[in-house]
Amino acid sequence: MSETAPKRYHPAHVVIHWLMALLILMMLGVGKTVMPGVDPADPQKPMMLQSHAYIGISLAALLVIRVIMLFVLKRPAPADAGNPVLNFAGRATHILLYVFMLGMVLSGMGLFQMANLPAVFSGAAPYPANFFDYPARNGHGLVSWLLLAFIALHFGAAMFHQFIRKDGLLERMWFGK
Ligand code: HEM
Repeated sequence: MSETAPKRYHPAHVVIHWLMALLILMMLGVGKTVMPGVDPADPQKPMMLQSHAYIGISLAALLVIRVIMLFVLKRPAPADAGNPVLNFAGRATHILLYVFMLGMVLSGMGLFQMANLPAVFSGAAPYPANFFDYPARNGHGLVSWLLLAFIALHFGAAMFHQFIRKDGLLERMWFGK
C-alpha cells in the first residue's frame, strides 16, 4: 500500500459496512429463529418472506457498490495482528465473508426464481409446501451457517484488536479525520 494510504475507510464505506452488518444480522437472526416457526398457512408468512427477499436483493446491490468502492477508493494499509499467520487469516476471512455474502444473495435469488416468489407474494400461487424441494434452499441454509461462523470470527478479531492489541483498529471503520 502506498504512503498516501488514508488512516480510515472512506465515509461511504463506513455507512455501507454498518448498514450491511445490521441488515445481515437481522436477516440471519429472523431467518434462523422467527421464519421457521411461522406456519406456511399463516397469512403473515408470504409478507414476512417478501420483506426477507427484498432486503436480500437490496443487500446484493449494496454488496456490488461495496466491491466497486474497494477498487475505486483508497483504503487504509492492511491491518497488522502482530503475526504473519494471523495477518493471512484476517485477509482470508475478509475474502470469505464476501464469498459467503454473495452465496446468500445468489442462492436467495435462485429461490426467488425457482419458487416463482412474485406470484406467491401477489397471492397468485400458493406458498411452497417445502422450499427444500428446490436445490438452492440447501445452499442457502448451508451458507447461512458459514456466514454466521465467519461473522463471529470477524467480530472476535475486531475485539482482539480493540482489547488485546489496543491498536484502535475499529476507528478505521468509523467517521473522523
Ligand atoms: C445476505 C442475504 C441473505 C441472508 C443473510 C439470508 C438469510 C436466510 C436465513 C438464515 C434463512 C433460513 C436458513 C436456514 O436456517 O436453513 C433464509 C431462508 C430463506 N431465504 Fe434468505 N437470506 C438472504 C437473502 C435472500 C434473498 C435475496 C432471497 C430471495 C430473493 C431469500 C429467500 C429466502 C427463502 C425463500 C428462504 C426459505 C424460507 C423458508 O424455508 O420458509 N434470501 N434466509
